[in-house]
Amino acid sequence: MSRVLLVIGGGVAAYKSLDLIRRLKERGIAVRCVLTNAAKQFVTPLAAASLSGEKVHDDLFSLTDEAEMGHIELSRWANLVVVAPATADLLAKAANGLANDLASTLLLATDKKTLFAPAMNLRMWLHPATRRNVATLTADGALFVGPNEGEMACGEFGPGRMSEPLEIVAAVEAALKSPTALPLPAATKPKGPLAGRRVVVTAGPTHEPIDPVRYIANRSSGKQGYALAAALAALGGEVTLVSGPTHLPDAHGVTMRRVETARQMLAAVEAAMPADVFVAAAAVADWRVASEGGEKIKKQGGRTPSFALVENPDILATIARRKKARPALVVGFAAETETVIEHARAKLARKGCDLIVANDVSPETGIMGGDRNTVHLVTPDGVEDWPDLDKTEVARRLAAAIAARLAGAGR
Ligand code: C5P
Repeated sequence: MSRVLLVIGGGVAAYKSLDLIRRLKERGIAVRCVLTNAAKQFVTPLAAASLSGEKVHDDLFSLTDEAEMGHIELSRWANLVVVAPATADLLAKAANGLANDLASTLLLATDKKTLFAPAMNLRMWLHPATRRNVATLTADGALFVGPNEGEMACGEFGPGRMSEPLEIVAAVEAALKSPTALPLPAATKPKGPLAGRRVVVTAGPTHEPIDPVRYIANRSSGKQGYALAAALAALGGEVTLVSGPTHLPDAHGVTMRRVETARQMLAAVEAAMPADVFVAAAAVADWRVASEGGEKIKKQGGRTPSFALVENPDILATIARRKKARPALVVGFAAETETVIEHARAKLARKGCDLIVANDVSPETGIMGGDRNTVHLVTPDGVEDWPDLDKTEVARRLAAAIAARLAGAGR
């Protein structure tokens, strides 16, 4: 699901932003709103919260908000930031990097593209200062929709009316089609041990359709794979995360590829090759139905349908057994409910990978879908048992272990 962070500025056009929230939600786009103090003169936080179905954020210094979803988290959550109405003041702040409230701080802190829908008096829009600010923002990679020409609240006629909600929706949909993460400025390019290394990670479950409304799935949340992708990126890796359907926001600092089925996942992984490291953390469905129904399968008077299953491609084995351009390090996961280490050893050999991260996913462990994990690193040389850790800590240690092994394997 796409996620838009909507910054509502203080202008008469703010009433149209309430309709914009509805229109975006109708299209399955999640919306969280940030209101400036001036915006609250025109629309209420309660209206924005009711329409978006999400808490509205308006205070940079809110202790609870910072603890739960601070300004950096809000920006990470979003695929795209939309500023509507973008007042002359907000444009000026964004163009000059001023950050003295939640909205402007967000605009400075975000690593996502920003789409501005300006709305102001035509003289303000045509003023050389605003022209400069728009030029600066455009050069920085910002997107614009509108303003339109027409009669304005101030009684004058000309450019300055905010685009209509459906025009903004069209611009949002177009923006979401291309990558929305801004490239990092050269000076902040990561320099960690994985700098210059390409890494591909799979995560989450896959959904294998039975008919247009039903599918085969599993309980994987994707948490471990997402945390690992972010940890590998934090070490400087150029990470592509190929994810099955999850409820998680995009992992920070990685290129996301969202897919549904095992076959789509394999195609996305192949497309992301060549890579130095491949980590298969996804819980890929082992089987899919042999012939997916084109129509919803109906009950047949007490007769139960039977499905023939066929095996899905093994993504890990396919990449590990590549003849040409095999990644220098191929890491698999083994989720087992019994004799974990033995199964992991067998898997290492069978799949042809270099390292298996094994864990016990028996229901009583709470690992699948939970926040903690107890893993064992299985290599041809032996087994390393790790204590029970938070999944982000497992990810951090795994990323460090991967970087160390890669350095050991030689450049
Ligand atoms: O065979 P099993 O599912 O137990 O193997 C687990 C490992 O293999 C995981 O790393 C998983 O991501 C990977 N795998 C895969 N493609 C499949 C099945 C598993 O990449 N079709």
